[in-house]
Amino acid sequence: MNFGIIGFGRIARKFVQSIEATQGVVSAIGSRSMTLDDPYLKKHPQIKIYRDYEQMLCDSDIEAVYIALPHKFHKKWILKALDHHVPVLCEKPLVLFAEEVEEVRQKMRETKTLCVEALKTKFNDGYDQLKKDLEKIAPVQKIYANFCSDSLDMPKTCFLFDPQQGGALNDIGSYILGFILGIETSEIVDVKSEQKMVDEINYYFKAEITFADGCLATAEGAIDRKKKRMAIIEGQNGTIEIPDYNRIMDYKIEQKDGVVIHRHFPFDGNDMTKEIEDFIKDVEEGNIESKKHSMDDTKAILTLSAYIASKKKRS
Ligand SMILES: NC(=O)c1ccc[n+]([C@@H]2O[C@H](COP(=O)([O-])OP(=O)(O)OC[C@H]3O[C@@H](n4cnc5c(N)ncnc54)[C@H](OP(=O)(O)O)[C@@H]3O)[C@@H](O)[C@H]2O)c1
Repeated sequence: MNFGIIGFGRIARKFVQSIEATQGVVSAIGSRSMTLDDPYLKKHPQIKIYRDYEQMLCDSDIEAVYIALPHKFHKKWILKALDHHVPVLCEKPLVLFAEEVEEVRQKMRETKTLCVEALKTKFNDGYDQLKKDLEKIAPVQKIYANFCSDSLDMPKTCFLFDPQQGGALNDIGSYILGFILGIETSEIVDVKSEQKMVDEINYYFKAEITFADGCLATAEGAIDRKKKRMAIIEGQNGTIEIPDYNRIMDYKIEQKDGVVIHRHFPFDGNDMTKEIEDFIKDVEEGNIESKKHSMDDTKAILTLSAYIASKKKRS
């Protein structure tokens, strides 16, 4: 399947490696800034370069696009690609606000064209097995998940520091909240949150989410401090500890009866390869929505994220 890439920044440079282990090939790149002596282009001289993203969408060789722009441009280019009937794999967050998911969904239906948020976590084998393993410790009573990095040395022109789209919640909220909402499916009954806001940017947040079945989840994210990334799920019958839960490679189950189980999931390719494979399969099958990560899932994450943001406490 011939992919075009829209925006050739940091994550797009990883995508070109991830796709190598799939049936997909990068056949065009839409980039305003890539130079013709870029080492990737020199190695792949057959790739067409478009300076105008829309012109690439008009190229009839392009069978799908991967959108790797800063968050606030996702919606515009998703809608344009769908208008051209080009299936879309778009980086997270798909859009900035839950209501915008409806615009995307309507366009998907109108054009009968697939659109998927590239939340890699949910496409990897470790995540599927983890969901099955929950029964070993059930019922789940507590979930903790963090994603805290120190990105303060990034240039201040980076989208992370743009008040319209910046901050931790917009950047890595999808991983934390997507993970929690994938594990715990009962209704949310209460959210408490604290945030550190600097120049209208959410540098840090911690939220406590209470679910109708009594489960309590804690979500913690930051762009101003580093922490060991992990999730811990506590159940009545044991605990599961998952390092790097956003791209599960291994985890440990400790049952209350003393049984300890270690799981390992080596990647074929890298942590983004499975999401590309799954996307290709959906395009081939003519699906317009992913079963692994649906538009409702994306909307639920953004709804919770907005709720956490609305409870902001300045410091
Ligand atoms: N899945 C993951 O693990 C992961 C990791 C990191 C980021 N992401 C997501 O991927 C998206 C891109 O992140 P990134 O870190 O790759 O960003 P980045 O390095 O800043 O690259 C973004 C690219 O977007 C294009 N662009 C178009 N208009 C722009 C504008 N006005 N300002 C800046 N860039 C503009 C540029 O490409 P051209 O000059 O080539 O046109 C730029 O290189 C974000 O939504 C982010 O959340 C996902």
